[in-house]
Amino acid sequence: MKVAILGYGTVGSGVGEIIEKKASTDVKALELGYILERKENLHKHPLMCDDIDRILDDQDIDVVVETMGGIEPAHTYILQALSAGKHVVSANKAVIAQYEKEFHACAKAHGVKLLYEASCGGGIPWLHQLQSVKRIDSIDEIHGILNGTSNYILDHMSKEGTSFQEVLQNAQDLGYAEADPSADIDGDDIRNKLKISASVAFDCAPFQEIPTFGIRNIRKEDIAYAKAQHRNIKLIATAKRSGDYYGAVIEPTLYEEGLMEASVADNFNLACLHGTTIGDLRFFGQGAGKLPTAHAIVQDLLDLAQEVKLPEPSMHESLIYHPELLTSSYYIRSVLNDKEIQEILHGAIVHSEEAQGCRYTRTKPLEKAFLHKQMERILKKDPQAFMMALDQTGEEQA
Ligand code: HSE
Repeated sequence: MKVAILGYGTVGSGVGEIIEKKASTDVKALELGYILERKENLHKHPLMCDDIDRILDDQDIDVVVETMGGIEPAHTYILQALSAGKHVVSANKAVIAQYEKEFHACAKAHGVKLLYEASCGGGIPWLHQLQSVKRIDSIDEIHGILNGTSNYILDHMSKEGTSFQEVLQNAQDLGYAEADPSADIDGDDIRNKLKISASVAFDCAPFQEIPTFGIRNIRKEDIAYAKAQHRNIKLIATAKRSGDYYGAVIEPTLYEEGLMEASVADNFNLACLHGTTIGDLRFFGQGAGKLPTAHAIVQDLLDLAQEVKLPEPSMHESLIYHPELLTSSYYIRSVLNDKEIQEILHGAIVHSEEAQGCRYTRTKPLEKAFLHKQMERILKKDPQAFMMALDQTGEEQA
């Protein structure tokens, strides 16, 4: 099967490396045809070209790997490749989260496939497993650590006591972070992955309503405050379905040491589902980085090359946003006084305390969407404020 790679950055070059190394009989069936790159890079590889039409017009190219990232021109090139009768494999969560439905309709119309295992959870075969579980079960909840960069930052701040900026630089040097790391630390990247995962898990179009709070404001003091309670802070994506309703959220969450979520280190991801007969099922692996992500792409390529019969994606369910489905208690770090916070939270404070030189406020269990909205009000008065949700175990102990 002849492959063209669009974009030869960290992940694209990983795919090229695996294909060219031909380390297994299966991979030997793949042949690299073109690498689309900018003019100034063309000297770097003999297969590089800067003309997308040459690739699209070449009847020998069976599949296009899109590792450019971003929305345009990735969106246009994917549609053009599908319309030209070529399968597409993409690692681009931003473009898939936005155009998943349109891409699948186009693929179907032209009798080809669009696969994107690498878009969620890096090397973890997560989307395949969601499809597999659904052959028997209904899935009612998914959650997980789906951003390697933010996990690397939280883990290394916790283990080494290093500052946020210093650890972010390391994550960028290791090739985990997005071109603009704001997407990692503000929760946009993990939100795209949740949209895609939920659309597969619940057979619906990507959700529009996902309250999101990232880790931009986290400080060493927050990590120390969590540690004093024997807890770790993790950036968690959650989506829940009940009948025709859904709830979804991205937020820093406190997990007691010893729980699986609390132990996820470095760039690793943990993707969890709950199904009717399987109950809780969890998948762990490297969620970012050149070769793990490239591995997931090559797996998709091999499924296409070997004509593996894959379940057809179905987005027929129209789920309605229902914020009441997700609730928890929170800790809020803010310089506002109790009276101001009490007023903003409609009297939901349980207690406040001074710790690590900061003021932390514990809330009653609240609808997550309500807390996120009120947090926007707190941030207007205290732009450095931070919040962390308590996971279910923390709630039970309270
Ligand atoms: N920036 C992403 C992450 C890359 O850190 O998870 C993998 O999607």
